[in-house]
Amino acid sequence: MTTDLPRQCKRARMTRLTPDHLHQNAFDNSLLPNIISIADNGKIIAANQAAEKLLGYSGKELLLKKFEEIFSLTDDHFKKILKQRAAAGHAIGNLSVIKKSGRELPCQITSVVFIGDNNIRKVITTLVDRRQGIRMQNGIDLEKNKIVAADLLLALSESDATLTRLHHLEHKLDEEISANEVSFKLNAIHMADAVSEAKETVRSDLGKELHDNVNQLLAASKIYMDLALRNPANQRDHINKSSEYTATAIEEIRKLAKGLVHNAIRNVGLCTAIEEMTRGLMEAYPIKIHCDMNDEQHFHLNSKFKLDVFRIVQEQVNNIIKHAQASCVRISFFRQEDIFVLSVGDDGVGFDTGKKTEGIGISNIKSRAEFYKGLATFVSEAGQGCILTVQFPIGESTMDNL
Ligand SMILES: Nc1ncnc2c1ncn2[C@@H]1O[C@H](COP(=O)(O)OP(=O)(O)OP(=O)(O)O)[C@@H](O)[C@H]1O
Ligand SMILES: [Mg+2]
Repeated sequence: MTTDLPRQCKRARMTRLTPDHLHQNAFDNSLLPNIISIADNGKIIAANQAAEKLLGYSGKELLLKKFEEIFSLTDDHFKKILKQRAAAGHAIGNLSVIKKSGRELPCQITSVVFIGDNNIRKVITTLVDRRQGIRMQNGIDLEKNKIVAADLLLALSESDATLTRLHHLEHKLDEEISANEVSFKLNAIHMADAVSEAKETVRSDLGKELHDNVNQLLAASKIYMDLALRNPANQRDHINKSSEYTATAIEEIRKLAKGLVHNAIRNVGLCTAIEEMTRGLMEAYPIKIHCDMNDEQHFHLNSKFKLDVFRIVQEQVNNIIKHAQASCVRISFFRQEDIFVLSVGDDGVGFDTGKKTEGIGISNIKSRAEFYKGLATFVSEAGQGCILTVQFPIGESTMDNL
């Protein structure tokens, strides 16, 4: 724009328009508020209808104002815009415009310097009411905030769900941990039970061995010592026998301590072990003992099983010697289809099998039989001798290779 624009030319629309008139017309009828001022002193020299409407002044009133009077000078932006305009010839920025009523209006201003008539530097300033934009922006911001709030709510609800899931997981974890603790405790209890059961078994086995074996050996040793005392003629032989039984008892206790008891019978064989034992007894007592068994039948027998059979025989023979006053004993051990049958019979005084006694020999016999799911029965009557029968079902615990 290089020409001055006289503001009285509104009527130019009705007449033939020169280029100057066109500029004037555009200036006057622009929907945007425009003000023209002198650059050096700020005096307003023209303002269009939109500017009058925006600021609330009449055209005449505005021509009495200076440029800086219609802006809030407390606004730092004003100085910046003036500085920028002086340097670059134009400036753009947001400023508060003061209306005639004194109210402040937020506006965006575009200020451009141009050279007018007589080389006078003039400024055309366009004002844009920002209230609508601000309201729209606020609306947009509100919408944005709503979206952000909704997102937040969603995130919160998702995080709530995540928290619930975490809580659920934590709960499950707790349950698993406590289940593991319970199973760990149960295992510990089972282990403790197993250990105490094992200890009990060892204790019981030791007790049985001491009673059924070592006890018998020491009893035999005592018998030979008594014989030696009563019979000076064979004193030396009887003392030697007593010494032998004592030594065997010592050896058996040593094996017990080392857990080698099973090996003894494994190396010797059940039949041989029983015959050896009865031979010794027959030397010491006036009794005849017959053995009806065959080691070849016992080839596949488990060594613990053989030892238990041996201990049962040992205890019952000892009972016969102690209580039966028998002259003849028969021992048999044979297989009958799916069972092994052990029998020890005597022709002694017999006894009342229903009577309770202090002894532990018979209960040891029964417990050894039960270990193999077997059954021990005593058939006896006063004066009728006694027959012990033990039936062992053949199974994994009786045989080495089934
Ligand atoms: N063959 C038998 N003839 C007669 N009585 C017997 C015979 N076997 C057992 N008895 C009787 O049964 C009782 C119980 O025997 P058990 O072996 O349990 O105990 P004990 O021999 O008396 O003592 P322990 O064996 O503990 O040294 C004996 O006291 C005895 O009276
Ligand atoms: Mg006994």
